Amino acid sequence: MKRRVTKAIFPVAGLGTRFLPATKSVPKEIMTLVDRPLIQYAIDEARAAGITEFIFVTSRGKGALEDYFDHAPQLEAALLKSGKTQLLEALRASNMESGAIAYIRQHKAMGLGHAVWCARRLIANDEPFAVILPDDVIAADTPCLQQMIEAYEETGGSMVAAMEVPREKASSYGILDVNSERGNLVSVRGMVEKPKMSEAPSNLAVIGRYILAPDVLNNLNNAQLGAGGEIQLTDAIAKEIEDGRPVHGLRFSGQRFDCGSKAGFLQATVSFALARPELQDEFAAFLRDTVPLLRVAE
Ligand code: G1P
Repeated sequence: MKRRVTKAIFPVAGLGTRFLPATKSVPKEIMTLVDRPLIQYAIDEARAAGITEFIFVTSRGKGALEDYFDHAPQLEAALLKSGKTQLLEALRASNMESGAIAYIRQHKAMGLGHAVWCARRLIANDEPFAVILPDDVIAADTPCLQQMIEAYEETGGSMVAAMEVPREKASSYGILDVNSERGNLVSVRGMVEKPKMSEAPSNLAVIGRYILAPDVLNNLNNAQLGAGGEIQLTDAIAKEIEDGRPVHGLRFSGQRFDCGSKAGFLQATVSFALARPELQDEFAAFLRDTVPLLRVAE
């Protein structure tokens, strides 16, 4: 029987320079979509998929992230006293169990592969694990990682979330070289990190959800610098294929927002706000009034 996936690594060491000056003092992962930090969406998705241990790869200046997961007894007591039960529930839902979280520092910004490698001692050598990039927020009926766990139960090996992107955007992603497809499952024969448009083997991109065989960590032990002069996770997964172990992509159902970019973050904000019953009416009315003005301006 395949070993269950219970650990997830969250690489959160990035500087978030695209959101300066905000990220001078606020970690990017604490920035909020409506009223929940980006990281909370990632945690909720992981929990829904059965993850019980959460490993954060952080860097200097990410202290607010650690504080965020602390219990807040004074705040809880105040909300309880004033009968604000809904807020209390929302607050408690963000609490993490003692011992369920580990923080590892990435001391040098050497790429995503290096960030994952920094967590190697927390993963047993026969233990598959998940990686979630909190910048990629995915709205889905069945959370994306759960869709992947279900598919992984059949395939084993390693699995990445996959989505078609416009060809001219290929150089922003890891791109899959497709062997064959069955339903929404893609058998992969190669992966290239951030290829030039002319060299992209397909328009199927890796999105920030991974289920990885423990061997990927061994591959990272011997990793060479890849695209952008960084140690790339994509290369360590591609090595699995070379070594004859299966790698699949899952064309997940759901809408992905690139919250690492301002435009994606704003799109996610609008979409999540419209999905909130308490905001829907007022916010939709605002959009209805605003959109015609846009058309006039055009
Ligand atoms: C990372 C990965 C890339 C993947 C992307 C998804 O790139 O290296 O393979 O396609 O996330 O968001 P980054 O966006 O961190 O440059």
